[in-house]
Amino acid sequence: MLRVDQAGEYGATRIYAGQLAVLRQNSPASRLIARMSGQEQRHLERFNALMAERRVRPTALQPIWNVAGFALGAATALMSEKAAMACTDAVETEIDRHYGEQLEALGDEDPEFAADIRAFRAEELEHRDTAREAGAAQAFGYPVLTTAVRAACRLAIGLSKRI
Ligand SMILES: [Fe+2]
Ligand SMILES: [Fe+2]
Repeated sequence: MLRVDQAGEYGATRIYAGQLAVLRQNSPASRLIARMSGQEQRHLERFNALMAERRVRPTALQPIWNVAGFALGAATALMSEKAAMACTDAVETEIDRHYGEQLEALGDEDPEFAADIRAFRAEELEHRDTAREAGAAQAFGYPVLTTAVRAACRLAIGLSKRI
């Protein structure tokens, strides 16, 4: 669980890095993304620390998530600011589902880890709402784009669980 969560938070930082590399600095979208990116960085650092503490190895796919995350961020930002927001909308929808499943599976086990997941999940939902308020749904091709990004997220989650 920790391995896939750390991979996901790492991927999130890479997506936002890709978007920030493309978007005009200090634009409203950039400012929103920079704030969300800071929270992802915090999630990632917490899971990094837990992994070190518990001797969990990271996914072997990390180098792929580095490139794929950045590419997804850059590509959506190149489409438009609203497409960048649609990407966050889609990603956080899948992450919410994923964290929800983990919390259910954990039950009363490992309350320390569960508390982190719960706190981070709440922030991911804020990101999703931020993206929606910023007009994600007005992005050109929103249904196709979000369906594709959600499928990519599910694939990435599935792979990071196994490898
Ligand atoms: Fe996160
Ligand atoms: Fe997030």
